[in-house]
Amino acid sequence: MIIAANWKAYVEDADKAKKLVALAKRLAAKTKVELVLAPPAPFLGLIASGNRSRVSFAAQDVSVTLGGAYTGEATAQMYAALGARYALVGHSERRAAGDTNATVAEKLAHAVAQGLTPILCVGERERDPAADYLQFIREELVSALSQLSQKERLNTVIAYEPVWAIGKSATDAADSAEIQEMTLFIRKVLAEIMPGKAASRASILYGGSVEPANIRDIAGGTGVDGFLVGHASVAPDTFSALITALA
Ligand code: PGA
Repeated sequence: MIIAANWKAYVEDADKAKKLVALAKRLAAKTKVELVLAPPAPFLGLIASGNRSRVSFAAQDVSVTLGGAYTGEATAQMYAALGARYALVGHSERRAAGDTNATVAEKLAHAVAQGLTPILCVGERERDPAADYLQFIREELVSALSQLSQKERLNTVIAYEPVWAIGKSATDAADSAEIQEMTLFIRKVLAEIMPGKAASRASILYGGSVEPANIRDIAGGTGVDGFLVGHASVAPDTFSALITALA
């Protein structure tokens, strides 16, 4: 099981960032759960360089550009150089800020080229009665993975994050039946674009209002391999409680 902590822009203070990292390292020493921290870009170098612990680090996004005259961009190569092992790509908050499926595919390719393991985020904004959202998710997956080799596709972690469930509370998260159905659907789509039984081994995370109150139920009955957690990952007590509940 993986817990990836998406700090978003909740953590704005270097001391708080360092305290959360110290806590994660203590927790990692006591559990088999793999912990991945995705801090805001300016904190990554501060907390990830020289890291030898069982905690690993992720970029929250990578630039669609490579290096060059691009003021304000943070490229995949920079993140890799600072010690990131993973990169979130296609988070709904980046998509809301303008990322298209084509941009996401480009970013994914840049992340992979730098040896980062991508965590590709997909998820519908809402569920329509005709279930057109399934086609929406299929397109997000197929188009994002289109530029990758079979081996790179296999190495991509998929995070299913229904946008309607993000940033709320445990009772608003997708329920276990909905999540199980989506993990099956995602594996089915992956099976169409991956050879043999590779899709059955893909890592699929769930994200969207994961809290200590619901993490165990979701882990038990849905076929997910872990979680992408936002707000509950930036308060020390709820972060500890998440790991304890899962362990
Ligand atoms: P949340 O965010 O846990 O605050 O819902 C999850 C995410 O957006 O990755």
